[in-house]
Amino acid sequence: MTSGDLAARRARHLAPSLGLSYADPLEIVRGEGAWLYDAKGDAYLDCVNNVCHVGHCHPTVVAAAAEQMAVLNTNTRYLHENAVRLAERLCGLLPDPLSVCFFVCSGSEANELALRLARTATGRHDVAVVDGAYHGNTSSLIELSPYKFNGRGGRGRADHVHVVPTPDPFRSRVHPLGAAFACDPQRVTDAAREAEPNGGLAALFCESLLGCAGQVVLPPAYLAAAFEHARAAGALCVADEVQVGFGRVGSHFWGFETQRAVPDIVTLGKPMGNGHPLAAVVTTPAVAAAFANGMEYFNTFGGNPVSCAVGSAVLDVIESEGLQRRASEVGALLLERLGGLEATAPLIGDVRGLGLFIGVELVLDRTTLEPAAAEATRVVEAMKDRGVLLSTDGPGHNVIKIKPPLAFGPAEAERVAAELATVLAGL
Ligand SMILES: Cc1ncc(COP(=O)(O)O)c(C=O)c1O
Repeated sequence: MTSGDLAARRARHLAPSLGLSYADPLEIVRGEGAWLYDAKGDAYLDCVNNVCHVGHCHPTVVAAAAEQMAVLNTNTRYLHENAVRLAERLCGLLPDPLSVCFFVCSGSEANELALRLARTATGRHDVAVVDGAYHGNTSSLIELSPYKFNGRGGRGRADHVHVVPTPDPFRSRVHPLGAAFACDPQRVTDAAREAEPNGGLAALFCESLLGCAGQVVLPPAYLAAAFEHARAAGALCVADEVQVGFGRVGSHFWGFETQRAVPDIVTLGKPMGNGHPLAAVVTTPAVAAAFANGMEYFNTFGGNPVSCAVGSAVLDVIESEGLQRRASEVGALLLERLGGLEATAPLIGDVRGLGLFIGVELVLDRTTLEPAAAEATRVVEAMKDRGVLLSTDGPGHNVIKIKPPLAFGPAEAERVAAELATVLAGL
């Protein structure tokens, strides 16, 4: 198919709600490390795919999948070493008392199960979430995702959902209405009070670093304090690590560890299978026991021997290639270079991030912080034309997000910063 033919046929038979990136969409046919290649053979530096965590098509992961696929793929109703090994390794990487695993196939499935666990364990229904959050694509999770229910096509907040303001250090520090962007974890108690007439909160869901809310790094120890408030109200605490887990933040393996918080339930996804649909929920023995109420939890594909071979291979590569340390070092370099652009590029309001989870917030005015959404889109398009793939996020669609595969190195960091300097100068 030619690219034009492909686009027309896609439009005819794939749902129109499935978006495409860029005004002139790319036909990507191959990936390697942090690079993607289009049908013409042009190379693009992938700065947004945190799913292919250890690098596109990493040979160790590909081999593990192919070898196990050639031997056996079944469900978890048989004893199999692969699931047990992966569960042992994951639990070994998590703090006590997180020691019981459920394997699922997507971040949405993981959060959906976390919701069921919390509701069954507490006997309550309501949930608190952070403004701007996205937790998944199911009906229940759209209800828990202000990014969606308050966004285009959304139908607003459901009665059982209670929204805590985005703890946004940049806006609360700089914006004239700073209080509206309060970083006060006490807001979790306010949400719990709001839930009291309905029987109280079952859970607080919070990403360990906020993705769709605009690549926000939470204020120091915010999550620890928010969890204290939630627990005081009888709720369970769910850390959504679907975006940021597995060493991306550099200093720690999990994002919540940077916040001195220990969740009751943690949800894992995207990077866990390096592109293979593998995700997990890890919880405490107490929560898992409450959920074992007679109703079996069955998941046809979750935890199958192929997926678990892939999950173990991903952990092997993170360890053997020192990718967590690389995220820390390369992330620090990139943050420094991007921070250096602030002096000459008045559009940059804030540069923030941890490891290789970085946001560059563009504003029209550094006092009013009016989001520079159209400019952010122009930057993303111009960077694509220069061979660097980025995208935007945040409620104002003005935050350029950077979360590349961890195969991304110092040379790639220098390239991104240099291209961005040129593009910003030309706006
Ligand atoms: C924080 C967060 N949680 C959950 C999900 C849902 O994961 P999936 O798309 O694998 O269902 C996403 C997806 O973008 C996410 O960003």
